[in-house]
Amino acid sequence: MDSIEITGGARLQGEVQVSGSKNATLPQIAAALLVSGRSTFHGVPDLADIRTLGRLLGHMGAKIERQGAELSVDASLITEPEAPYELVKTMRASVLVLGPLVARCGRARVSMPGGCAIGARPIDQHLKGLEALGATIDLAHGYVEARASRLRGAKILFDLPTVTGTENLMMAATLAEGLTVLENCAREPEILALQDALNAMGAKVQGAGSNTITIDGVPSLHAAAVKVIPDRIEAWTLLAAALITGGDITLRGARAQDLDAALAKMREAGARITISADSLRIEAPERPEAVDFITAPFPGFPTDLQAQLMACLTVAKGASRVVETIFENRFMHVQELSRMGADVAIDGHTAIVRGVTRLSGAPVMATDLRASASLVLAGLRAEGTTTVHRVYHLDRGYEGLEQKLSSVGARIRRVKGA
Ligand code: EPZ
Repeated sequence: MDSIEITGGARLQGEVQVSGSKNATLPQIAAALLVSGRSTFHGVPDLADIRTLGRLLGHMGAKIERQGAELSVDASLITEPEAPYELVKTMRASVLVLGPLVARCGRARVSMPGGCAIGARPIDQHLKGLEALGATIDLAHGYVEARASRLRGAKILFDLPTVTGTENLMMAATLAEGLTVLENCAREPEILALQDALNAMGAKVQGAGSNTITIDGVPSLHAAAVKVIPDRIEAWTLLAAALITGGDITLRGARAQDLDAALAKMREAGARITISADSLRIEAPERPEAVDFITAPFPGFPTDLQAQLMACLTVAKGASRVVETIFENRFMHVQELSRMGADVAIDGHTAIVRGVTRLSGAPVMATDLRASASLVLAGLRAEGTTTVHRVYHLDRGYEGLEQKLSSVGARIRRVKGA
């Protein structure tokens, strides 16, 4: 297994380009299953999760072609509307094929996503919504079997805002008979991007970005060309590399409007943030100020940035209070940061981070995608060498992170595993 080695202490400076968004591309590619034809996606990041979804669609009979950052999906022929355990177990987002398959093929057999390092993550809201649209749902042998001759529009109230739940029902409802109204929806920018892609395919979706989305079903959809939005989580992670090293970085291609809450926390930590038409610049102080924050659904502070901001606060002036409200087990990075000399005390969903003047490099273990990013950040600040193991977690969601960081002065390299 590969690992990443970082020699800390460099103050990062320079310009770097943001990649396309993993969490916007995954549902958009799943939406191609709704269409008989060849859809194209531009600006697709080169990530393990995107490759996994490509294999999954290929398993169903779709033709996937990739050239650089352009990916095409021809789902004219779906021979097997099934998502097998072998593929789903490596990526929970595979559940995003459920809605499109039931809507397009009238049936789907999708492996239940198992447990996850960051929390239980049930899919009850996805299944409840599909049943409301008229599908019959059977759970057997670890699989969801969903069937419907044709879905019917319905009013669905989510018990809580769920990102992929909202996306799955949006996609299913595009081919349903009549009007669907989704309420208490998630409002993440990736959901707006999915609405844009579906409407480019001929769907009638409105309201994404608010907590009520309406979908007027149509008999069929057509192929479309879709431009992927920039990855807001990758963008902020790169800015955090400047925050933790007292650096000065400019991001090309980032969208500030997707990061209001997260940029506000950077300003509270003492950084100067300059926003221009197509770039974002951070000028960071030598040490961040302590900042309290709580994760929440969009437009609140994203849970996918909690570990990265915590890493920065381990060297802040003063103590910070961090509350994680979305996932019940998303402090796995704390033990590893403590191995580097961080002072973090956990009490249930709350962590108190007392800033220290120095971290020391150490061998550490990545446990999930965003935790691995926080360990890389801590390694950039730490004295000596940090080795992050199990970086396959990182490769799921960051495109060429070590190249991007070394292009702005980091001493970082990948050590190829056996
Ligand atoms: C999406 O996951 C993202 N993944 C996650 O990013 C992100 O952390 C999460 O949204 C929250 O922002 C993708 O977009 C592919 P949820 P998702 O359904 O949709 C509970 C990353 O690092 N819930 O919004 O699976 C659930 O347990 C990943 O890129 C139910 O109870 O998250 C959680 O507590 C990690 N029943 C809360 O809702 C359901 O049916 C929010 O989860 C669905 C969700």
